Amino acid sequence: MNLIFLGPPGAGKGTHAQLLMRDLGIPQISTGDMLRQAMKDGTPLGLSAKAYVEKGELVPDEVVIGIVKERLQAPDCQKGYILDGFPRTVKQAEALAQFAKIDVVLNLALSDEIIINRLSGRRVCLKCGATYHISALNGREDCEKCGDKLVQRKDDSAETIQNRLNVYAAQTAPLIDYYQEKGLLRTVKCESTVEENYRAVRRALELA
Ligand code: AP5
Repeated sequence: MNLIFLGPPGAGKGTHAQLLMRDLGIPQISTGDMLRQAMKDGTPLGLSAKAYVEKGELVPDEVVIGIVKERLQAPDCQKGYILDGFPRTVKQAEALAQFAKIDVVLNLALSDEIIINRLSGRRVCLKCGATYHISALNGREDCEKCGDKLVQRKDDSAETIQNRLNVYAAQTAPLIDYYQEKGLLRTVKCESTVEENYRAVRRALELA
């Protein structure tokens, strides 16, 4: 199954993509994670992406289209994949249609108020990629999976979260109509707990 997880920042795309990857054995392909890894490694891609990512702006289409096209050629994508955070513009969606056949687009929907709470409280482990919310950490400052220190993503500051929401509304939300017209869109409300939302995701994919 070739899936797209569409949704605003903080919708839970990464959280649910990881659960589905575990259950279906297909890879999660997160353009955000790939860009952050490149930034951490100081590669030319990372250096060119840094300013966009830290301000909450989109990296140019041709850059992300190139990295996704190359990634989908890897052997682990043959049985399916979950695209998390790609496409994010109509131009990216049109390019994707040239080199991939998508089965379902899951649109994760929730209010801006919940998004702001989730993102401002998010803490991440840069070493293993685990994500937490401060409400569940009980003061703990290190990663329970690998012990590394947890940090706040630079783009999770209040000002940048608002910019990401504006960018989403202007450039990514039009993909809801784009995929609706293609008959691929399924919308899942993601305002409840992770467990409850994941059950809704599985139902939408007819896996439950
Ligand atoms: P990216 O990393 O994709 O960021 P995003 O879309 O803003 O999404 P997030 O990772 O913030 O949220 P998410 O929906 O994955 O939610 P999560 O599961 O983490 O992209 C970052 C940047 O890279 C972009 O701004 C852009 O610059 C660039 N970029 C990436 N792709 C691009 C593209 N295609 N084109 C151009 N530029 C691109 O959950 C969020 C938090 O909420 C976590 O703390 C989690 O633990 C918590 N949480 C989740 N669900 C629940 C729940 N039910 N209850 C309580 N807490 C919850």
